[in-house]
Amino acid sequence: MTDGYGRTIDYIRISVTDRCDLRCVYCMPGEGITPVAHGDILTYDEILRLAGVFADLGIRRVKLTGGEPLVRKRIETLVGGLRAVPGIEEVTLTTNGVLLAEKMDALAAAGIGGINLSLDTLDPDVFARITRRRMFDEVMRGFHAALAYPQIPLKINCVPMGEEGQNAAEVARLAKEYPVHVRFIEMMPIGLGSRFAFQSEESLLRVLAARYGAYQPYEGRLGNGPGHYYSFPGFLGKIGFISAISHKFCDSCNRVRLTSQGYLKTCLQYDIGTDLRKLLREGADDRALREAAAEAIRRKPQSHQFTETVEAHREPRAMSQIGG
Ligand code: GTP
Ligand code: 5AD
Ligand code: SF4
Repeated sequence: MTDGYGRTIDYIRISVTDRCDLRCVYCMPGEGITPVAHGDILTYDEILRLAGVFADLGIRRVKLTGGEPLVRKRIETLVGGLRAVPGIEEVTLTTNGVLLAEKMDALAAAGIGGINLSLDTLDPDVFARITRRRMFDEVMRGFHAALAYPQIPLKINCVPMGEEGQNAAEVARLAKEYPVHVRFIEMMPIGLGSRFAFQSEESLLRVLAARYGAYQPYEGRLGNGPGHYYSFPGFLGKIGFISAISHKFCDSCNRVRLTSQGYLKTCLQYDIGTDLRKLLREGADDRALREAAAEAIRRKPQSHQFTETVEAHREPRAMSQIGG
């Protein structure tokens, strides 16, 4: 369906849990966040029912996020269930990679359509500082497990954050050596993210060009998200950027979000949307759910205002509760 600004909405990011096995400094406090009680989280049956409603409204692709989606038990059954919903064409997943080696075969068998792996540095000690967990080797095992399925597109997400020794430009090397796309995400001022340095696309591109040679814009589309890409000489994969600050992409936004508690959130930045769990658990039929979702999508905000200080409807949730 189209929203109030004429944008086609065909992609939903579904957060399946607010729990995570890492504690990235820009996302979660060291002590964690009080997790939502299990009973308040949508069951897989509830998610599948809502997915049918979204598919009726024209949603075609689903991204599973968290917290960390792989900490939710038997996530592969949800992947398989979503793939069987009429109208849903693709199910992909964004993970921190800690459990990926363990889960990759099951995800592939369930028909996962792509994996995005968050990896901010290739230095194990810096990784431990950024994530507050010494898990670099597990994540690299996950990376190689995913590479064993060349038909499943693999992308790396790296958020340059000004941490000493992070060496974001070094992470780009993965796209030179392996058939993976490496995307650099500008730090967004959501939750703890506002405390960190932001590195712009332009400044990083200058560093990458000096190190890897002249690049060309890549005109093709890779995935459903807001990334845009460049080709570097001799690289097997592309280098991408998700630049919410320096290249605002709200005009072409195609997505909404469902939190693990069943709130349909229509823009990353605001607490604007509708509580579908409440309706579901009150016994609403599919038509009532469809109407509530459609009405929320019609009222989707025009754009984020990260660079302005607008307090109205500002999102109180942490990034780990939204799923990015
Ligand atoms: P694909 O390219 O299809 O794999 O999807 P994606 O890039 O949307 O997926 P991913 O989950 O890897 O998200 C990458 C980054 O994009 C995360 O930091 C998200 O927070 C960010 N992102 C995704 N959608 C939006 C959006 O609508 N607005 C903003 N500001 N950021 C977004
Ligand atoms: N700004 C930009 N990206 C963020 N992520 C988490 N918090 C932020 C933020 N404040 C990223 C993670 C992961 C993706 C889902 O979102 O690193 O790659
Ligand atoms: Fe976990 Fe992702 Fe947040 Fe890191 S950024 S703490 S991996 S949810």
